[in-house]
Amino acid sequence: MKGARDRLWGRWRPALLFNHAGLCRIKIMSLLCLFFVALVVISRAASFMGWRHRLDSPQSLSRHRYTVLINTWKRNDLLKKTVAHYAQCNGVDAIRVVWSEPDPPSDSLYSELSQSVASSNVHEKHQKISFQFDTHDKDDLNNRFKPLKGLHTDAIFSIDDDVVVPCALLEFSFSAWLTAPDSMVGFVPRMHWIESMNHAGEEEKYTYGGWWSVWWMGSYSMILSKAAFVHHKYFELYTHQMPASIRHYVREARNCEDIAMSFLVANATSAPPLWVKGRLFEIGSTGISSLQGHSEHRTQCVNHFVSVYGYMPLVASHVKVVDARNQWLW
Ligand SMILES: *[C@@H]1O[C@H](CO)[C@@H](O)[C@H](O)[C@H]1NC(C)=O
Repeated sequence: MKGARDRLWGRWRPALLFNHAGLCRIKIMSLLCLFFVALVVISRAASFMGWRHRLDSPQSLSRHRYTVLINTWKRNDLLKKTVAHYAQCNGVDAIRVVWSEPDPPSDSLYSELSQSVASSNVHEKHQKISFQFDTHDKDDLNNRFKPLKGLHTDAIFSIDDDVVVPCALLEFSFSAWLTAPDSMVGFVPRMHWIESMNHAGEEEKYTYGGWWSVWWMGSYSMILSKAAFVHHKYFELYTHQMPASIRHYVREARNCEDIAMSFLVANATSAPPLWVKGRLFEIGSTGISSLQGHSEHRTQCVNHFVSVYGYMPLVASHVKVVDARNQWLW
C-alpha cells in the first residue's frame, strides 16, 4: 500500500513542475537571471569605457593630494616593491621612507628607489611625485610620527613596508579621509574590551581585541597605522604634546606606537576612527604580530595608556565605509 502511494507520488511530482504556477516561477527566475547578467555586463562596461572616472577632474586631484609615509626596517627587497607600487597611484604627492637603521641608506638603494619613482612620473599625466628618506639616528618606533619637514600635504598615508593597498582602494580611502580629516581612516581595525565588571573603587581593566574580536562583534575602536590616513597635525602633537612617558613606554617596549596614536586622536576628537572596506596585501610574513604573546603586550599597552590619560579615550564604532560603485542593490 505504502509502495503504491510512493509510486503514485513519484509519477506526480515531476508533473507538478509543468503546471501553470511552475511555469510562471521558471519565467520569473529566468528574468531575474537575465537582469543580473545585464547588471554585471553594464558595470563591467562602465569601468571598461572609463565612465566612472569622469567625475575626477585633474584639478581636484592636484588640490587634494597625500604623502605616502613608509615605515621600514631592514627589508630593502620589500621596500623596493612597495615604493614602486605606490609611485603608480593617483593623488600621491610624495613618497617618504622612515629610516631608523644605524647605517644610512646606501647610495645604490637611494638611486634605485628614486629611479623607480621617476619612471612612473614619466608615464603618468599626474603631477610629479618626489621621493626622500627621513633618516633617524636612533632605532625608535616613535620616529614613525616625527613631524615631516618640507611637506606639501596635510594627509599622510602611513604604511608598513610590507603592506600593499591597490591604487583604486587607496584613492577611495583618501576620499573617505577627506570627509573626516580629523579621524584616522584605514583598513586594519582593532578593538578594546572591558575585562570584567569592576567593584567599587577598582580600576577598570581592558583587553586588546585582535582581528577575530572585530570580526565576531563587528565593532572596533582603533585603526592601526600600518595602513591608515592620518592628519599631519597629529605628528606634531605626538612628538611635542603627548605625555613623554608614553613615548618612553613605546621606545622601551618596541611596540604600541599605533595604539598611542589611536589614543591621541581619540582624546583630541572624542570620536571613533573610520574603517574602510577593502582587501590589502601583506607581501612579507614576519611582522611582530605573528610573534607569540603579542596580544598580551598590546593589552599591557592599552592599560598603561589608560592610566596615563586617566580615562579610556577610545570610542567604539560599527561604521564601515564601502564603495557605492561596488554595491549592486541600493
Ligand atoms: C587630552 O585632550 C585634552 C583636550 O584637548 C588635553 O588638554 C589633554 O592634554 C589631552 N590628554 C593627554 C594625556 O594628552
